[in-house]
Amino acid sequence: MTATDLTAPVPPTRTPVPVPEFSVWPATATEEPGGRVLLAGVPLADIADAHGTPVYVLDEAEIRDRCRTYRAAFPADGADVHYAAKAFLCRGLVRLVDEEGLGLDVCSAGELELAVTAGFPPERILLHGNAKSPADLAAALRLGVGRIVIDSPAEIARLAAALGPRGHQKVMLRVTPGVGAGGHAKVRTGTDDQKFGLSLRDGHAQHAVARILDQPRLELTGLHCHLGSQITETKPYLTALRRLVGLMARIRDAHGVVLPELDLGGGHGIAYRPGDPALDPTALARGLRAALAESCAAAGLPVPRLLVEPGRAVVGPAGVAVYRVLAVKTTGGRAFVAVDGGMSDNPRPALYGVRYAPRLIGRRSTAPAVRTTVAGRHCEAGDLLAEDVDLPADVRPGDLLAVPVAGAYHLSMASSYNLVGRPPVVAVRDGAARLLVRRETLEDLRARDVGL
Ligand code: LLP
Repeated sequence: MTATDLTAPVPPTRTPVPVPEFSVWPATATEEPGGRVLLAGVPLADIADAHGTPVYVLDEAEIRDRCRTYRAAFPADGADVHYAAKAFLCRGLVRLVDEEGLGLDVCSAGELELAVTAGFPPERILLHGNAKSPADLAAALRLGVGRIVIDSPAEIARLAAALGPRGHQKVMLRVTPGVGAGGHAKVRTGTDDQKFGLSLRDGHAQHAVARILDQPRLELTGLHCHLGSQITETKPYLTALRRLVGLMARIRDAHGVVLPELDLGGGHGIAYRPGDPALDPTALARGLRAALAESCAAAGLPVPRLLVEPGRAVVGPAGVAVYRVLAVKTTGGRAFVAVDGGMSDNPRPALYGVRYAPRLIGRRSTAPAVRTTVAGRHCEAGDLLAEDVDLPADVRPGDLLAVPVAGAYHLSMASSYNLVGRPPVVAVRDGAARLLVRRETLEDLRARDVGL
């Protein structure tokens, strides 16, 4: 990670106080009496000045803390926690996740190469994907990835052939347990009517198991399922677990094979706005352990090693997006505050109708609150970051607005729409800031456009 001019500790000007409405912010968030908001002791306004806006700020302590909560909830003697890299990945984060003892879940050669070249042990990586390309599989075999999660029958023969006569690869099979869960239809993946996995109900999963077991170069270590994303209750996980243990028992009966691992995927929900429900990893772990012990005892199976793959719940709440206000107007009876980012750095409101709680962070305002729509800068009416939020009536161009809970699925899904470069990522810790990913410049964008 590159040190920047912001590495020197920044002493707070006055003693900041924790503020209750920071409930969805990282635990280090504080506000000075003048209204400036600090993260890990670093004023967000200073980061905006040093790096420009929009800028994404990641609170390192919050990420580490969340990793540790997962490690404590799913201890290493019976479980593994794999961080789902699709939520957000950069080399700094790879190092952090490694230091905290988590594994990684990747779903492309790109995520895999980035992780391994940043020093992540390949044996602690799982490769997913409903349509893995030849390049994905080649990278997985070349780099020695720990597990490949098979998602379709064609992959079995392809993988066995790619391994060659002396090759060996641990694999899992992705099964759809027929459980619908998740915050939006587009991210529900546990039912039979969508593109991921093979159905437990219609026999396709059992058939694929038989084919994998027929391949001497493939070692089937277990079953996998991922029900969906932004799930806030334990119950769907318990239902899926029981169904998968049922399948494990049928596999034992049909083939005499006892699978040693069970991966229940990720999807653990977080609060985006104060008062939103969230899934507690510790309660989830407790519920899963009890259900696993009970269903394995009933089926006469040994308890398998449990794997989970949280992405959002590890990095989401650790990220804050900081924008500069560019325009303010009231038109058609609606108050608009337009900022210098939008759907290019955060497509989630447009894609899933997700609601955020932005706030003014550079100064204190005593103006009354007005119902405001925070708009992005892109050329679409649907480019709105937050609709109907309360912001002070005197918000004006030049002000800074921050959107908390911005650490997951913003930058990993960002685009260069309208040729607006993607924002930088800055990590904060103990009063110091470090640049993790620099801003995408017009030069970057121009460089890949080779012209006529
Ligand atoms: N494991 C697998 C196999 C997955 O497909 C995913 C997410 C995860 C784990 C991690 O899920 P998480 O714990 O982060 O919810 N773009 C959407 C989310 C898509 C999730 C895709 N798969 C969003 O912005 O909400």
